[in-house]
Amino acid sequence: MKIMSAATTTTTATAVVWKTLFTDTFSSSCLRMPIVGAPMAGVSGGRLAAATMQAGALGFIAAGHLTANSMKDLQAEIQLYRDLMKQHYDQQQQQPEPETIPLALGFIGHSATGSNDEQAWDRYRHILQHEKPTVVQFFAPAITRHPTTGQTNVELAHEVGRANGGGACLFLAQVGSVQEGIEAIAAGVDGIIAQGSEAGGHGLRHPHGNPVLTLTARLRQVAPAHVPVLAAGGIVDGRGMAAAMVPGLADGVVLGTRLYATPEALGRDAFKQAIVEAKSCDDAIRTTVFDQIQNVYFPTPWPVPYDSLGALKNDFTAEWDGKTDALDAALKQQQHDASGVLQSFRQANEKGNVRIAPVLAGKGVGEIHSIEPARDVIARIEQEARQIMQEMSNKHLVRLVG
Ligand SMILES: Cc1cc2nc3c(=O)[nH]c(=O)nc-3n(C[C@H](O)[C@H](O)[C@H](O)COP(=O)(O)O)c2cc1C
Repeated sequence: MKIMSAATTTTTATAVVWKTLFTDTFSSSCLRMPIVGAPMAGVSGGRLAAATMQAGALGFIAAGHLTANSMKDLQAEIQLYRDLMKQHYDQQQQQPEPETIPLALGFIGHSATGSNDEQAWDRYRHILQHEKPTVVQFFAPAITRHPTTGQTNVELAHEVGRANGGGACLFLAQVGSVQEGIEAIAAGVDGIIAQGSEAGGHGLRHPHGNPVLTLTARLRQVAPAHVPVLAAGGIVDGRGMAAAMVPGLADGVVLGTRLYATPEALGRDAFKQAIVEAKSCDDAIRTTVFDQIQNVYFPTPWPVPYDSLGALKNDFTAEWDGKTDALDAALKQQQHDASGVLQSFRQANEKGNVRIAPVLAGKGVGEIHSIEPARDVIARIEQEARQIMQEMSNKHLVRLVG
């Protein structure tokens, strides 16, 4: 057994198994390392989740907004995941107990358990009862309350998990501020994801968000000793993972954008290619302009303060970022002008035109050089991080003699 900075690893003949607060708390028949594949709506389906789990990390399927229309799609992705996991275990000639096979689902709080939408809560309960996830993740907001009973989404997950028998249903809360983290801890979550403003996808708009390492450090201090804290935002390689996992920071890391650029991810090839072609962190931005325009026609508009996206800069952000009033005016005028900004934005989105449409991506772009299988990405990051952590323990200390 070898002691490393923030973690312990056990080397066996075939595999290295990490031991952190996260791997202890979220242990399963698959988990060998403190890496999570983020639930990314429209990107993390059954194929990516299965590849992530098979690589030894915790791979989420995104349940997203969980509308009445998207229930069937989610169930199909879960079935695909189960089929791929079964094939995997058959190939390995393993037959793990069913309750130790993980299923991780990520929900968007404001829509999947809306504050005045009992039917949304019924769908959430249905998924908990029938699909029996072993882990659920919530975000935007992380903690929600049933409109009439007052029960929280955390209590419901724990209650149904217990009633299902077998393993529990653990709850991960993704937060962007210390205050949200404190609320999640008070609600009894089993783990916290500190989502920094570097992250791809939705997150707290400026000035509510925080840099990932600053937020992780503070949440590690305020979280009880048994609650793991993970870092999310801009982590795409072993350097990022090792940096986030120095003592006093994270118990594990979340990969979003890096796993988007994989063949297993859902989503357009043109978007994945744009992520690969981005040259540096300068090419990504956190902006409210995409939400401002999409909220005009989306059935599940994003509320303040979650209405900003980590995305690639493009012609649309160049024209409109920071010009809220002007965009508002253009959208109002639109009612009389079918060729206006809204129309062309929707068309560009439908066609996957990366010059106009939002390509969700975090500040780690520039260090993503190809579209590669998730398994290879995860293995490389894990190995790089291990090597860096070992080097760090030797590098910075000079022994004075005499
Ligand atoms: C394409 C995309 C979609 C996302 N969708 C979701 C989502 O549905 N639910 C969620 O909790 N987070 C979502 N996120 C945010 C991730 O959970 C995570 O915080 C983020 O990807 C971490 O930053 P990184 O992308 O720089 O790795 C999304 C991120 C991306 C890139």
